[in-house]
Amino acid sequence: MGKIDDPRVSERVQAFPESVIREMTRIAALHPGTVNLAQGFPDFDPPPELIEAVKRAVHQGGSQYSITWGDPTLRAAISRKAKEFNGIESDPEKNLVVTCGATEAMMASMLSLINPGDEAIIFEPFYENYGPDARVSGARPRHVRLEWPDWRFDPETVKGAFNPKTKVLILNTPNNPTGKVFTRDELKLLADLCTDHDVVAITDEIYEHMVYDGGRHVSLATVGSMAERTVTINGLSKTYAATGWRVGWAIAPPTLAAAIRRAHDFLTVCAPTAFQLAGVVALALPPAYYDELQRTYQAKRDRLVKALQAAGIDCRPPGGTYYVMTDFSAFPFKDDWEFAMHLIDRCGIATVPGSSFYSDPRSGRRKVRFVFCKRESTLDETARRLEKLRSPAT
Ligand SMILES: Cc1ncc(COP(=O)(O)O)c(C=O)c1O
Repeated sequence: MGKIDDPRVSERVQAFPESVIREMTRIAALHPGTVNLAQGFPDFDPPPELIEAVKRAVHQGGSQYSITWGDPTLRAAISRKAKEFNGIESDPEKNLVVTCGATEAMMASMLSLINPGDEAIIFEPFYENYGPDARVSGARPRHVRLEWPDWRFDPETVKGAFNPKTKVLILNTPNNPTGKVFTRDELKLLADLCTDHDVVAITDEIYEHMVYDGGRHVSLATVGSMAERTVTINGLSKTYAATGWRVGWAIAPPTLAAAIRRAHDFLTVCAPTAFQLAGVVALALPPAYYDELQRTYQAKRDRLVKALQAAGIDCRPPGGTYYVMTDFSAFPFKDDWEFAMHLIDRCGIATVPGSSFYSDPRSGRRKVRFVFCKRESTLDETARRLEKLRSPAT
C-alpha cells in the first residue's frame, strides 16, 4: 500500500487508498486453497433463467450501446419494482438513470451534486468506495460513528455534523460492513435534519433484500417529503448474485436525475446492454424469489456467526447484508492486519482488516470483517478451519 512510485500519477489518485478488499483477495490468491471471505461476491451463479436471459439478450441487440441512461424496458421494470417493494414513485422517463453498478451511480451522483469544499456526512465504519468518491467529487467527508456492538449512532453527534457546508448525507442501509438496518425512527431523524438543512440524501440500498429476523428495509425516499431530496441507489449485483454484470441505477428527482445522466454519459456511456436486458427478467422474478433469498442468507448468517462465536471471536448476528463485523480482542494479536494474516496462514481464511472501514484506522484495529455470501459447503469448511484458531499450531 502507499503511494504509487511514479511522479506522473495525479495527486487525486495518489490520495486514494488501495482497495484493501482487493488486496486481501490478491493475498488469498497467493495462498492456494484459501477460502475468500474478504470480497462480497457469491461463489455461486445467478438463477439459471437469468443466465439464459443473458444468452438470449446477446442475440437480440444486446451487443450495442443502449440509450445512455438505460434501456427503456429496464427502466420500466426498475420503476415498477421500486413502487411495489419500496413504495417509491418514479417516472422511468424522468427519475431513472441506469449505471455501471451502484458504484458508478454513487460516483455520478456525487459528481452531480458536490462543489469542491462541500461537506458529505458519512457514517463509519463505511463501505470503502465512499472515501474515493468524496475525493474525486471534491467533498469533505464528515464522519458519524456507528458504535460497536449494536451500531447505534448518537443523535446529538449526527445533529452536530449538519452545518451550512453540508451538501449531502450518504446513507447505506442495510449497511456494509456493520450489517445494521436503519430503523424508521432513525431515518425520520435523518430526514428531518436533511429537510431542515436543505441537504440531499444519497442512499445506497443494494442489500435491501438481505434483512433478517423479520426486520424490514425502509427506503429513506419514502420518509416524509424525502422523495424530493433523495437519490436512491440500487443494482442487480447482490440481489441476483450478479456482481459481474455491472448494472445499477439511481432514482432521483427529475433535475438531479438529469444531472446524474449527464455525468454518467461522459463516465461510461451506458451499462452493458445485454445485462440490462437480462435485468428485466431478474426484476420480474416472483416474490417467492426474495423470500427464499432472505431465508437462505439468514441460514448462511447463522452458520457463520455460530462458527465465529465457537472460535471465540466476538460478534452479533447482523440484522442485514451478508457481512459480519467481528472483534478479536480475546486473541493476543497486535492489530487487525496481524490477525487477518494469521487467519490466512493458520486457517486459510481471507477476511478484511477492520481499519480499512474507518477514517482513523486505529478505530478498527481490533476488528475484522467476514462475508457469508458463500455456498453451504464453503461455510462448513470455514467452520472447520476456524477450529484451528484455538488448537495449538503443529
Ligand atoms: C454498500 C455497497 N454499495 C455498492 C457496492 C457495489 O455495487 P455494484 O456491484 O452494483 O457496483 C457494494 C459491493 O460490495 C457495497 O457493499
